[in-house]
Amino acid sequence: MLDLLVKDATLPDGRRDVGIAVSAGRIVEVREGLRDAPAHEVVDAAGGLVSPPFVDAHFHMDATLSYGLPRVNASGTLLEGIALWGELKPLLTQEALVERALAYCDWAVAKGLLAIRSHVDVCDHRLLAVQALLEVKRRVAPYLDLQLVAFPQDGALRSPGALANLERALAMGVDVVGGIPHFERTMAEGAESVRVLCEIAAEAGRLVDMHCDESDDPLSRHVETLAAETVRLGLHGRVTGSHLTSMHSMDNYYVSKLLPLMAEARLNVVANPLINITLQGRHDTYPRRRGMTRVPELLAAGLTVAFGHDCVMDPWYSLGSADMLEVAAMGLHVAQMTSQAAMRQCFDAVTAAPARVLQLEGYGLEAGCHADFVLLQARDPVEAIRLRATRLAVYRRGRRIATTPAAQAALALPGRPAAVDFSLERRA
Ligand code: FE2
Repeated sequence: MLDLLVKDATLPDGRRDVGIAVSAGRIVEVREGLRDAPAHEVVDAAGGLVSPPFVDAHFHMDATLSYGLPRVNASGTLLEGIALWGELKPLLTQEALVERALAYCDWAVAKGLLAIRSHVDVCDHRLLAVQALLEVKRRVAPYLDLQLVAFPQDGALRSPGALANLERALAMGVDVVGGIPHFERTMAEGAESVRVLCEIAAEAGRLVDMHCDESDDPLSRHVETLAAETVRLGLHGRVTGSHLTSMHSMDNYYVSKLLPLMAEARLNVVANPLINITLQGRHDTYPRRRGMTRVPELLAAGLTVAFGHDCVMDPWYSLGSADMLEVAAMGLHVAQMTSQAAMRQCFDAVTAAPARVLQLEGYGLEAGCHADFVLLQARDPVEAIRLRATRLAVYRRGRRIATTPAAQAALALPGRPAAVDFSLERRA
């Protein structure tokens, strides 16, 4: 007797009329035409898309939902955001941090977002945010995988004590080594910070995820050092470059040499479309650069590229709702990834790709994987992005943990249907 059978599902890879059989929190069978099997609960997906959960590879949970504290970012720039965060940090309490982070995790679960890699600022000798997010990680563990990155926001070398704080954070249970080379005082110190931090990670057997080259400066080339250090230390596939926005503005010849080095290092890349399109190009008049890294070219070079949300209602960004389909939609537009195949890659960039970046165990819709999935009010990944589809039901380990009623608008127009249907196929 199964615990759960989901029947007539469409999977992100295009398979239709698929049954997903669940027992003891794991998927035990996934098969086309599987409609009948004894189960305690049967869910009819009615041809709807069933996807593995959304995954956010880049977030700041210590800052989220703090919009307006202690004031609003007037210029909207990255640098004023960092300054504003510096004003807020001394005012933070552990209780408020935990409360805001838990509230955000509620939003995430409702949107089918069940794994988040969050950076946590370690440039505070109290390590208040580290303690708070470790507590949150423990409390949400039954329903959300929270992976933490020790992030020296003010510079690992530039900020006194940051390196020691980072090592303390790792000892306390933070998972990943972070960095911010472009924010160190000089290019040379930025490169040195990459070397030091990668060595710490290699020594401790940790993954690396650095904010890297988050500027429009085409000569900000710390990604090159990051890739070279990855190769030197044998960290292939274990290192992520987040943002990499300077690549947007780099010389094409230089990029043609950089991409093979990044591929050799099996570097993972995280673009943050909502934030990149908002914060980059701020020193431009017109034309004004988009600033997002070169996503299609990185994918073509064989790299794993994920899209992150980065910020929701914090010193850097006043919008957002934990909706990774909004992130995918923005990435699609900014990178002009408009072919059917490219739009599906944008869906992958908020599901399977970030799961690889986080090295999540048991992620996916195959026998043996965790029974974690989302039933969407859409028939395929492209429609899901187009409609920012409602998450009808969210499952974790085979148990339904969130539901949302189907979106439906009624019309009162003479001679027209009573309900509006946004599907082209049903109209044909
Ligand atoms: Fe970030």
